[in-house]
Amino acid sequence: MNTRISRRRFAATGAAASLASLLPRGVFSQGTANKNAIVHAGDSIGVVKPEFHSNFAEHLGSCVYGGIWVGPNSPIPNIEGFRKDTVDALKDLGVPVLRWPGGCFADDYHWRDGIGPAARRPKRVNTTWGGYTEDNSFGTHEFIRFCRLIGSEPYFAANVGTGTPQDVRDWIEYCNYPAGSTLADERAANGSKEPFNVRYWGVGNELWGCGGNFTPQAAASEFVHFATFARQFGPTRLFLVGCGPSGDDTNWTRGFMDTLGGHIGMMSGYSMHYYTGGDLRPLQFDKDAMYRQFNLYPLVERSLIHQRTLLDGYDPNRRIGLFLDEWGVWDQMSQPEEAANGRLWQQATIRSAVAAALGLNIFNRQADKLFMCNIAQLINVLQSLLLTDGPTGQHCVKTANYHAFMLFKPHRGNTSVRVEADGMRLPDGRGGGRGRGAEQPPEISVSASRGDGRLVVSLVNPRADADWTVDVALRGVTAHEGSARILHDSDINAANSFENPGRLTVRPHEVAVEGGHFRIALPAMSVATVTLKVTESPA
Ligand code: AHR
Repeated sequence: MNTRISRRRFAATGAAASLASLLPRGVFSQGTANKNAIVHAGDSIGVVKPEFHSNFAEHLGSCVYGGIWVGPNSPIPNIEGFRKDTVDALKDLGVPVLRWPGGCFADDYHWRDGIGPAARRPKRVNTTWGGYTEDNSFGTHEFIRFCRLIGSEPYFAANVGTGTPQDVRDWIEYCNYPAGSTLADERAANGSKEPFNVRYWGVGNELWGCGGNFTPQAAASEFVHFATFARQFGPTRLFLVGCGPSGDDTNWTRGFMDTLGGHIGMMSGYSMHYYTGGDLRPLQFDKDAMYRQFNLYPLVERSLIHQRTLLDGYDPNRRIGLFLDEWGVWDQMSQPEEAANGRLWQQATIRSAVAAALGLNIFNRQADKLFMCNIAQLINVLQSLLLTDGPTGQHCVKTANYHAFMLFKPHRGNTSVRVEADGMRLPDGRGGGRGRGAEQPPEISVSASRGDGRLVVSLVNPRADADWTVDVALRGVTAHEGSARILHDSDINAANSFENPGRLTVRPHEVAVEGGHFRIALPAMSVATVTLKVTESPA
């Protein structure tokens, strides 16, 4: 909607002071802004790689079995065994890259278990996630087919913990060698004459923990050993990803990189993980617990900056891409829900959507430092895009997280640009709740990007009880028209449920656009994206 903002008056707070003084007065005749922001449209940061919106599917709970795969004989509507509702929803959103089969599961997974006729595949105990038995009906071919159905690029996590360099080498040959070798011919006999051309290969997962409890030095030696034999079979150039730290673990990165030494050129990507833990169950959050969780986001941003800085010391030309290949909110689980729906089945609320948006804004603002980010996980597990009612249920809902990702889709492929906003917490912990210390969460989070004659601005209000009206000044461009969409609910525990799947959804929203400014109302607990048609403004 491109209209003048409605006549809502919000109490001006002291927070409006600093940037407000930089803005011309009287741009809008109606209402009073209590937050100000500036978009420096000419100050480019980096490309918002579509890969920042990537995802992760592990053999855990009902993510794969039940969420993705129900088998061709299921009464649940499916395409060759893949749930039709989840395929349709993910195809609409677009998931640029999908990481599989773990997570911790990856270091106990043997790829040969998941190929060949399904009836002859072995049954294995998933010791990582609850000791249930898997029939391996979802394996390499099924994963690749699923990726093709939803338009994702596959990213394999290879087994270092209980596997060998030969296993990984053979898996690559099986997937990528065009034809004529025994492994390529076996792939063809199993239904795919065409090679899979898998580019991304993670060398182990969380090697500091579930992947084998290695020291950083030992993990780096493993990397070099495995990478030596992870050869390029066929035309697909491999992109090998080394195992980075949990959070901002400096010792891990230094130990790993120092040990790699002259072998650093074997590594194309380096992955870190950062979960933002929650103290309560998803539907029982109070304001304080929510703010404790939101307060972790400036630390995530700081860790990305810090880890990239460390990497720069070893890789000054930034040939190695920094991955955040597991991130997201990890709340306390409800045992009855886990028992019914699978391990780590986690409801998603407007709080999770706001958290997702805080993360996605960070990726835009730090676009020059990142290569790929994979939220955990795709369906049913942790901060998922979709929820189904366990492995056998018929229902599927799009979560609040799905809608948050939809709001960020217009940034993909654009160039991110610098922003400032009153009350936006800086990665060093400054800013945010004025005068009340670091316990106060950020008051607002903003990011912006440019592409194709458009400026896209995403704004997040993470406060439970403060409505903002935001004046955004544009530097370097003039806006001609604009539209906005918003995701909002004032109840921090509002969620899409099987009974009420449409409570949280993206809706059109008012934005007032006037040349070098726009103004938007940002109610408590909201995520909004404004898309403006712009031209360069005269210098
Ligand atoms: O995403 C759930 C688990 O979290 C993954 O298996 C592991 O890599 C991480 O600790």
